[in-house]
Amino acid sequence: MRGNEGNPEVKGIILAGGTGSRLYPTTVAVSKQLLPVGNKPMIYYPMSVLLLAGVRDILVIGRPTEIPRFQELFGDGSHLGISVSYAEQAEPRGIADALLIGADHVAGDPVALILGDNIFHGHHFSSTLQEATRDPHGCVLFGYPVPDPERYGVCETDADGRVVSLEEKPRHPRSNRAVTGLYVYDHEAVDIAKNLRPSARGELEITDVNRHYADRGRARLVDLGRGFAWMDTGTPESFLQADLYIRALEDRQGVRIACLEEVALRMGFIDIDQCHRLGAERSGSAYGKYLLSLAL
Ligand code: DAU
Repeated sequence: MRGNEGNPEVKGIILAGGTGSRLYPTTVAVSKQLLPVGNKPMIYYPMSVLLLAGVRDILVIGRPTEIPRFQELFGDGSHLGISVSYAEQAEPRGIADALLIGADHVAGDPVALILGDNIFHGHHFSSTLQEATRDPHGCVLFGYPVPDPERYGVCETDADGRVVSLEEKPRHPRSNRAVTGLYVYDHEAVDIAKNLRPSARGELEITDVNRHYADRGRARLVDLGRGFAWMDTGTPESFLQADLYIRALEDRQGVRIACLEEVALRMGFIDIDQCHRLGAERSGSAYGKYLLSLAL
C-alpha cells in the first residue's frame, strides 16, 4: 500500500494541545482540535497539509487527557498509508516545546511543524508545500496578509523573500504579514529549541526559533497572498467563519476539503481498493459515500 514514498526525509508534528481558553466552555471536556469544522474534526485540516507535503511520519502532541481521543481518530495511521504516533504535553509551555517533545521523533531530520488549529486552503498549495519541504535549507515560513497583525507573529522580508525582521504580537506591527502556524525546518531546529529561554509570558516561543534562523539569513518566507485562505480558529468568531467557509466551498463544488482518505489516495499512499474499503465501513454517512464515489 506504500505506493508513493512521499518525502521520508521530513518528519511531521501537529501541535494540538493548549487550553482552548477562548472557546470556554466548549473546550472543557473536549480539545479544540477535535471540534467539528465543516463536519470533520479540526485536526483533519493540519493533518491534510502534512500529507499534501508528502510527510508520512507524523507525531500528534496533545493534552494527556486527549491523547486517547486522537488515537481513536487516527490509530497508527496505517489505514491511510502513513505512520501516526502520539506524545503528551502536560502544560502549554509554548509552541517551540513541540520540538523538544518531538526530539526523538525528529531524530536529526528536517521537520514540518503545524498548529492543530490552523486551516490552509488554496490553489497549488500542495506544490508550494512540496517545494518548501524538499530541502528546507534553514527555515521556511508562510506569510499571510491580515488586518490585525498585532494578534500574530509578524515579519518583514527583503526583495528575495528572506526574512529580515520577526516579532511576536507586536504592539506596533512593522507590516501586515502574519506568520502562519506552519513551520518547515532543516535538521537544526531541535537544537535551537533546546537553547531557548522562556519568554516574558513563560513560553518557549516559536518566533525565537524563527528569529534564530532569520538572524543568520536562513529564514525564507513564502507569501500565501490573496486568493488563499488561512484561518486560525482560536476565537468563537474565527471558528464560525472557518466552519462557514469550508461548508460553502464543499456545498458549492461538491468536493471535500481535507478529506484525509482522498488526500492519501491522490498522494499514492493508499490504493483505490483501500479507499473503497474505508468508504464501505462508513457507508451510512455522507463522508463514507463520498469515499465510495472516489473509488468508483
Ligand atoms: O496561528 C498563528 C500564530 O500562532 C502565529 O502567528 C504566532 O506567531 C504564534 O505564536 C501562534 O500564536 P497564537 O496566539 O495563536 O498562539 P497560541 O498560544 O494560541 O497557540 C496556538 C495553538 O497551539 C493553539 O491551538 C494551542 C496550541 N498550543 C499552544 C501552546 C502555547 C499548544 O498545543 N501548546 C502550547 O504550549
